[in-house]
Amino acid sequence: MAKKTSKSTAAHSSINIGISDKDRAATAEGLSKLLADTYTLYLTTHNFHWNVTGPMFNTLHQMFMVQYTELWNAVDPIAERIRSLGHVAPGSYAQFAKLSSLKDAPATPPKALEMVRILVEGHEGVARTARALFPIADQASDEPTADLLTQRLTVHEQTAWMLRSLLEE
Ligand SMILES: [Fe+2]
Repeated sequence: MAKKTSKSTAAHSSINIGISDKDRAATAEGLSKLLADTYTLYLTTHNFHWNVTGPMFNTLHQMFMVQYTELWNAVDPIAERIRSLGHVAPGSYAQFAKLSSLKDAPATPPKALEMVRILVEGHEGVARTARALFPIADQASDEPTADLLTQRLTVHEQTAWMLRSLLEE
């Protein structure tokens, strides 16, 4: 006889941290989008580190390395916050492609300043995804998620400014 197994939702409903099931689900969904955006921007930035050419090579190659390293380190706390809320963290290219608001890097490497422009758009896009989740976390008194979002917003807005500055004459 097969042993009686609990439903997959049982683990979720046993979580009692003072945030409703509905709010945990909505927050996990928003964090999954943030994870997909962050991962996509990480990969695009690493791609540009590899493929950048031109007179700004050294500056951009180094700058992109600092940026992709920061993004790589950021995906783990986002995924683990989803797990702390009782949900499954997405972690496949198929899921990320479905969830991300950012386009994949172009197959043919663009010129250096076009790379910078694409990264500005990327950081702005991730900032919008993080900001859209803020009211949900805030009304649920989900301070750890709100704190994580605040940290990510600070980085993306600052990085977008630094990249944007390279495009100005
Ligand atoms: Fe490298």
